[in-house]
Amino acid sequence: MVNDSIGRRPFMKTALGATAFLAVPGRLVALASQPGGSVLLPDKYPPVIPGFPHMLHGGDWNPDQWLHEPGVIDEDFRLMEKSGCNTFSVGIFAWATLEPEEGRFEFAWLDDIMNRLAAHGFYAFLATPSGAKPRWMSEKYPEVRRINRAGQREPHGSRHNHCFSSPVYRDKVRTINTTLANRYKGHKALAGWHISNEYSGACFCEFCLRAFRAYLKTRYPSLDALNRAWWTSFWSQTFQSWEQIDPRESPVDGLNLDWDRFITHQTVDFMKGEIAPLKAATPAVPVTTNMMSTFVGLDYWRFTDISDRMCWDAYPTLHGADSWRQAVNLSFHHDLYRTMKGGLPFMLMESTPSNTNWQQTPQLKKPGQHRQEMLLAIGHGADATMYFQWRKSLGAAEKMHGAVVDHGEPERTRVFQDVAAHGAFLKHLDAVVGTTVRPEVGLIYDWEVRWAIMYTQGPRQQANRAPYDREYLQACQDHYRPFWKLGVPVDLIESLSAFDRYKVIVAPMLFMLKPGVVDRLDAFVKGGGTLVLTYLSGIVNETELVLRGGWPGGGLRKMAGIWSEEIDSLYPDAPQRMVAAPGNGIGLTGDHPVRDYCERVHPEGASVLATYQSDFYAGMPALTVNTHGLGRVYYLAARPAADAFLDGFTRALVAQTKLSRCLDVDLPEGVTVQKRSGGGRTFYFLHNFRRESQVVDLGTLRFKEVGDGRALTARTTLAPFASLVLEKA
Ligand code: GLA
Ligand code: GLA
Repeated sequence: MVNDSIGRRPFMKTALGATAFLAVPGRLVALASQPGGSVLLPDKYPPVIPGFPHMLHGGDWNPDQWLHEPGVIDEDFRLMEKSGCNTFSVGIFAWATLEPEEGRFEFAWLDDIMNRLAAHGFYAFLATPSGAKPRWMSEKYPEVRRINRAGQREPHGSRHNHCFSSPVYRDKVRTINTTLANRYKGHKALAGWHISNEYSGACFCEFCLRAFRAYLKTRYPSLDALNRAWWTSFWSQTFQSWEQIDPRESPVDGLNLDWDRFITHQTVDFMKGEIAPLKAATPAVPVTTNMMSTFVGLDYWRFTDISDRMCWDAYPTLHGADSWRQAVNLSFHHDLYRTMKGGLPFMLMESTPSNTNWQQTPQLKKPGQHRQEMLLAIGHGADATMYFQWRKSLGAAEKMHGAVVDHGEPERTRVFQDVAAHGAFLKHLDAVVGTTVRPEVGLIYDWEVRWAIMYTQGPRQQANRAPYDREYLQACQDHYRPFWKLGVPVDLIESLSAFDRYKVIVAPMLFMLKPGVVDRLDAFVKGGGTLVLTYLSGIVNETELVLRGGWPGGGLRKMAGIWSEEIDSLYPDAPQRMVAAPGNGIGLTGDHPVRDYCERVHPEGASVLATYQSDFYAGMPALTVNTHGLGRVYYLAARPAADAFLDGFTRALVAQTKLSRCLDVDLPEGVTVQKRSGGGRTFYFLHNFRRESQVVDLGTLRFKEVGDGRALTARTTLAPFASLVLEKA
């Protein structure tokens, strides 16, 4: 732990040594990183359901909506047998059916469902119902309803709108969870707990504000320290008492940032409260909660310790001629969910087998795209491909949302056949279960960095102030894309993650530096690692106070061997260009457009690899490299406006640092490959994301497709949206 400059208590972990997990029956134990040594991922992880070494396949199922029509439930079981599905998330949002009146529980229907699931050899991820509260509760205990920013108590509303601090809500959740856990402990169908659903949002009631102030007292030793850390003398914002602290409409960046941290803290605390009775009754049953990609409102890294598996809900729009670019971003998220538990296989908890009714243009999946989406997830480390939803509801908000079982002729639909075909194919992937991806590159995507950028006014605004994160997420994805194109696996880490497992760390826009991060980056580079930094790095500390002494601050300046004096902002119609410096040594050629940001950088020991071409800073460095200890630090001073620059740069980086590619072959645009290994086997997932056939030259490599056994070598044609799972022949 490291104290920061204002002398308050340390509050952040500065090293997350534990990124690997040791399998012991029924649970996972974190392995500590060996001092000075690299953390190796285990050869193989246990399956999600102990004793069931198969890919999980299934989805959200709401029999609670059909209790008045038992024939439909019978039909569901018949169709499930045909679909190749084996696991269902049951009871999400079923609180009003489980407890129709306060204290009166109705479990007969769920007993029946669980028994029938078990009889069919199926499994349940049994949900805690906290995602939607029953109406009687909102009526009798108004405190469970949120207070909004304007200070008004919200109406009962729909879902995901309960207060995370309300003692009544916490108590009611504890009671129903305890009752569920005691009733179904030891049940053959109980495979896991699906905690709530897509936690999100904030409340401004007195319980929440009091909890926020108590949280702040654990972070700051005194009000005086808080005032200084938040720079509240600005616009007379100084707090004279803790009770005055209110997160609404504040010009104080540090306060806004701490409020976001608190929302995560309080949601994690709420989830802990949900988990406690479940673990007490069923200690060996894994718990997880379904997350939403890079949802900006919660720092999902803080949930990793209390989640036995990470899982997420993916609704990509893989539409249009350029849909492969959206597939890159989908891959980015899969890598994040695998990395959050080291390399532990994650669960794709929701995906749509058809259209997504809340999207602007809910296009259907074209032939091949369903299988492709599922196999992309598995290639990145998923051991479960699940859908929202098994059967369409007859009414309400999601009656038009894609589902495995449609309203009419369910068995004859293309979607059902796609699901069943995928289910049949999964039978060939038993040996993939528990294997993982083993990247040598760590790319930092850090929620708190994103928040820090979001709350800082400048150095530029976007049109209409959107995207609010100044394209932080997009910048991360821009740096990720070239690795995807080359078939080089990447871990998506945070700035608190252990770095020693990697050869290369890419840290786009590392705007905020948490305590200890620079020390660990320094050790990483001195030990021979390669670090890539960009514009807008090392600007503020963890309370949004600017780092003095020249940017990139906090020690990065010395590591990068440059001083960034000032930042220019470009108009969209007036991009700059940078040009490769002669003899740059990394094969960089020609000139490249840059947009948005141009930093005026002075070398202080670094070599210049590219310079600006025009304006009053023509000739000044746009890309530099500095030798630091046994390693190197690259600094990119401007934001590239086209793929070509980062493609070339990354290709050079891969060659220079000898990063292994999944396959040592050239991949045409829109084609990528992942590799999972373990248990003495290696599986390759080769995809063509284009709507046209493409040819990959496999050279002398010889492969066998795991499904149909077909041999592949030399020039191989990949059909539109083809995804192949291969092993070396
Ligand atoms: C106005 C205000 C100043 C400052 C500037 C910033 O002029 O009076 O306090 O906020 O805007 O541009
Ligand atoms: C989310 C929710 C589901 C459902 C789907 C629809 O993922 O968790 O309950 O509403 O969206 O796409």
